[in-house]
Amino acid sequence: MTTVTKEAGAPVPADAGAFLSVRDLHVSFATEDGAVRAVDGLSFDLERGRTLGIVGESGSGKSVTNLTVLGLHNPMFTTVEGEILLEGQELTTARESELERLRGNKVAMIFQDPLTALSPYYTVGRQIAEPYMKHRGASKKAAWERTVEMLGKVGIPNPRERAKDYPHQFSGGMRQRAMIAMALVCDPDLLIADEPTTALDVTVQAQILDLLKDLQREFGTAIIFITHDLGVIADMADDIMVMYAGSAVERGTTEQVLRSPQHPYTWGLLNSMPRLDSDLGTPLAPIPGAPPSLLNPPSGCRFHPRCTFRDRVGGDRCVTERPLLAPDRAAACHLTAEQKRSIFVDEIRPRLG
Ligand SMILES: Nc1ncnc2c1ncn2[C@@H]1O[C@H](COP(=O)(O)OP(=O)(O)O)[C@@H](O)[C@H]1O
Ligand SMILES: [Mg+2]
Repeated sequence: MTTVTKEAGAPVPADAGAFLSVRDLHVSFATEDGAVRAVDGLSFDLERGRTLGIVGESGSGKSVTNLTVLGLHNPMFTTVEGEILLEGQELTTARESELERLRGNKVAMIFQDPLTALSPYYTVGRQIAEPYMKHRGASKKAAWERTVEMLGKVGIPNPRERAKDYPHQFSGGMRQRAMIAMALVCDPDLLIADEPTTALDVTVQAQILDLLKDLQREFGTAIIFITHDLGVIADMADDIMVMYAGSAVERGTTEQVLRSPQHPYTWGLLNSMPRLDSDLGTPLAPIPGAPPSLLNPPSGCRFHPRCTFRDRVGGDRCVTERPLLAPDRAAACHLTAEQKRSIFVDEIRPRLG
């Protein structure tokens, strides 16, 4: 990963950093009960052609992070601080018209439920052709040809005919493919996939994942892939970021995070999630306790109330001092590097089997 070193106030030149660079992002929502701090000091980089997998329990801020990157939050109730730089362009302060130009063109998103992206009132083909006409200035005819080509690429049989169908005439897996065709029609440089295959059966899921990999190879797309399935992450991601209560607690290459994880929360996740290569009979051990309130998050390390290793850190450091994920540190945890290594090797790994 690239580290952007930036002096206070100095503009970052477009070529200085990563393709996408998120710096100390904070996103909070104004609610009747107070501010919900959904993203609370998150930084990461993503390069072109690479896939960043984001994992974490429900409510850890994965979707909010990515909706904020796309500028899809409601500015009336949302406060965004920090930086989101796409090729050096600051998105947190970009105008809505500029974000609209980026969305569906340079940046696209696919969701778990394709019906959030597809309108029931228009044919599938029209919904794919329209962004192409809008962003690329293509003629109706050229856009239709492109639509048929994209539907073919995502594996829709008889694409020329099926393009005239409405979403309800498609099966769930076909709608997912159509949404992917819509997201990719303008060759986005960044694709955000938020649990895109969670609702699909394993065969269709595998086909869609292969499709995304092929498209990435062909177009060099950078992908942010959000999932709670570690098997999918292992298959798809080059790098992994583990999120807890609105920030990253661990980050590294997929190999590093899955083979030698260093954060107690990551250990808990690995222990609690089914893996593709695991024996189906192995019982899963959920992480004790529940994710914290984001209205009033715990002091110090957000994970300390659920952490079974905090008494191995001297004093009450875990309660008073928030551990940070520095560029040279893979895990935001007060355990020493030697403690992390030996706990994982001696106590955690044997349980993972
Ligand atoms: N518009 C909103 N208003 C208030 N709270 C919200 C809003 N959107 C999301 N949240 C809260 O922000 C937190 C993070 O949500 P989310 O990013 O959707 O989690 P994840 O995708 O990791 O499951 C959750 O606690 C959620 O309830
Ligand atoms: Mg989500």
